[in-house]
Amino acid sequence: MTKHILVLPGDGIGPEITAQAVKVMEVCRDEFGVDISWEEAPVGGAGYEAAGHPLPPETLAKAQAADAIVLGAVGGPKWDKLEDISLRPERGLLGIRKELALFGNLRPALLYPQLADASSLKPEVVSGLDIMIVRELTGGIYFGQPRGIRTLDNGEKEGFNTYVYSESEIRRIAKVAFEMARKRNKRLCSVDKANVLEVTMLWRDVMEEVAKDYPDVELSHMYVDNAAMQLVRAPKQFDVMVTGNMFGDILSDAAAMLTGSIGMLPSASLDENAKGMYEPCHGSAPDIAGKNLANPLACILSVAMMLRYSFDNAGVAGKIEQAVSHVLDEGLRTADILSAGRTQVGTVEMGAAVVKALKALK
Ligand code: NAD
Ligand code: IPM
Ligand code: MN
Repeated sequence: MTKHILVLPGDGIGPEITAQAVKVMEVCRDEFGVDISWEEAPVGGAGYEAAGHPLPPETLAKAQAADAIVLGAVGGPKWDKLEDISLRPERGLLGIRKELALFGNLRPALLYPQLADASSLKPEVVSGLDIMIVRELTGGIYFGQPRGIRTLDNGEKEGFNTYVYSESEIRRIAKVAFEMARKRNKRLCSVDKANVLEVTMLWRDVMEEVAKDYPDVELSHMYVDNAAMQLVRAPKQFDVMVTGNMFGDILSDAAAMLTGSIGMLPSASLDENAKGMYEPCHGSAPDIAGKNLANPLACILSVAMMLRYSFDNAGVAGKIEQAVSHVLDEGLRTADILSAGRTQVGTVEMGAAVVKALKALK
């Protein structure tokens, strides 16, 4: 049966990169016989402009009905001053994650060998890098109640959020991470702040408990401050990392830079049944939006993740990754991954090069 995809371009560079991802989807459908169809809907700032809400009800209904979602990015300075925080573009994205229970966020930091010289770290530190960050995505401090800004008796304002995880929330993300480690090099590092925060003391306890079901996986624990340092000191010590919502957000941006650019890092956000939303880890990059400068590869590689995780088509997913590797072999680089002796291309040209390379792999 035809799988239906909802494409949510969003804001800033979002529409520029999803346009290239859609071209890759066309090749998957027309040349590789992948039975998919798709439609677009507004989300984020675009949702606010079109329907007065960052997650218009029609968009949410389409997201719920779709077999998978491809999202560009949301947000931008135009909406940063909206008084009602529930109308901010980012709330559209958080709303889909929560409504669809997409708690398991996979962020693979993989260095394409051709980009060893694009990383800000020495080639020997990053060459061969292949880390999978498993980030909990629908809980923690992002969603904990109570939250808000209140005025104290002395007239001063106070902002507050709640960092909370239940055992069941920790257990289900632990299982995702252990299963992932089992399929890879069987090493899992759980990142927490258990020396200070009770919520992550519980996190650590539950990780230990789940570990009993995975005797073949070696579990270790690391405090988040040390983990940030180790990621830039000796990143290849990691195989799979599992952590909460906010720590995962921060560590995955740092890990992205190891791969050359945040424009290289795709992601999958999955529910219990591997229904998912696929999106690059980066944002709407307002500083380069509309200039044909954005790297579309993270978004294109997110399509590959969709084929692998939601449509059980590792074959064509691998072809997309091979096509990306091929254009890097040719020396084509967007500005963010440019280094001496390479050819700078724009978003559209990079997308077209991947399409050409993919067709050649038929
Ligand atoms: P950002 O990721 O948008 O940009 C950070 C830096 O990385 C910028 O210099 C940008 O030009 C560069 N960059 C990002 N993606 C790139 C790409 N594909 N190619 C080349 N360069 C790229 O983060 P920010 O500036 O902190 O946030 C901008 C807006 O995006 C904010 O409104 C934020 O809330 C939003 N945001 C959205 C998402 C999402 O939709 N998933 C993720 C992060 C941030
Ligand atoms: C990400 C983004 C989002 C997050 C924002 C835009 C809500 O930074 O997907 O990494 O913090 O999860
Ligand atoms: Mn982020």
